[in-house]
Amino acid sequence: MDAPMRALLTERGGFTFCISEFLRISQGLLPARTYYKHVPELNNDCRTPSGTPIQFQLLGGDEEKLALSALRAMELGAGAIDLNFGCPAPTVNRHDGGATLLRYPQRIRGIVAAVRGAVPTSVPVSAKLRLGWENSDDIFVNAEQAWLGGASWITIHGRTRMQGYTPPAYWKNIGEVQRRIGIPVVANGEIWNREDFLRCREETQCIHFMIGRGALADPSLQHEIGRELGLSNNNLINKSFGADPLDWEPILRRFAEISAPTRGKSQYTSRRIKQWLGMANKRRTLPWFEQIKHTKSLDELFSVVRNRMRCSEVLVKSR
Ligand SMILES: Cc1cc2nc3c(=O)[nH]c(=O)nc-3n(C[C@H](O)[C@H](O)[C@H](O)COP(=O)(O)O)c2cc1C
Repeated sequence: MDAPMRALLTERGGFTFCISEFLRISQGLLPARTYYKHVPELNNDCRTPSGTPIQFQLLGGDEEKLALSALRAMELGAGAIDLNFGCPAPTVNRHDGGATLLRYPQRIRGIVAAVRGAVPTSVPVSAKLRLGWENSDDIFVNAEQAWLGGASWITIHGRTRMQGYTPPAYWKNIGEVQRRIGIPVVANGEIWNREDFLRCREETQCIHFMIGRGALADPSLQHEIGRELGLSNNNLINKSFGADPLDWEPILRRFAEISAPTRGKSQYTSRRIKQWLGMANKRRTLPWFEQIKHTKSLDELFSVVRNRMRCSEVLVKSR
């Protein structure tokens, strides 16, 4: 998620914190402007406009460069650093980044320790891991090494690198790690609805959860989960999202409004909305998505939503 989407989802409440996309560190220290471009919220105490903290995520294989980069991020305003050991993209992996590190547990420990040592102890340093490169049991040694390196907590995506994003996610080992190590473990992967969440909690016995695509497909999911967890900041939204454009219209308009100052009334916003609804459409059919897909501008996109809304109002009245 980028800054406009973070702003939108966190202003609806329900999230404790969020994590930036990764900034890849390969050559050396990047200029400050790259950090600000990547996470504009650095200008706001590294919080979204509604005040939710953002962890700044770094990716790379060189501990010294990552340590220097983490320090730079912190100096520019980051309050927490997350290290990515999970990205499965071949280009990233070929350049010694992301999930590649899962094959070298000692290097995970070295990187976490170097970053931990570079920033003040008040700045949490966490690690994002997958279950392994191809063996799901590698998580036990990798999680332990991250812990020994000084990670404040770890997040585990319940799939190996070779499993990519193919469902299902395997949560069992996440729970096992949680019982074995002495830092909090955040469970992640394939939580799309309340039932998935309940199963994940049952299987892992975790108390911390990360949701990614599920929050896009159903922007009220964090509230449903928050309610189950007894969180206090989850009282804004009470209803689940459905396939109805009446659900989506206000949130899409708000997204366009939030995007406007930085992205203009541009093709960008309309592209992002299509991408977003495309993902939602994979989880539950949005019958009007096909029409949205072929729109050529933001105005046209909203006119489709509005027309579909009128159709559903007529349907509701005639029931
Ligand atoms: C398009 C896309 C981009 C992602 N980018 C990142 C990233 O920059 N950093 C990261 O830690 N995880 C990233 N992930 C992985 C998610 O954080 C998450 O681990 C994964 O999607 C599984 O969780 P979910 O089923 O709740 O989406 C990305 C996933 C997708 C689909």
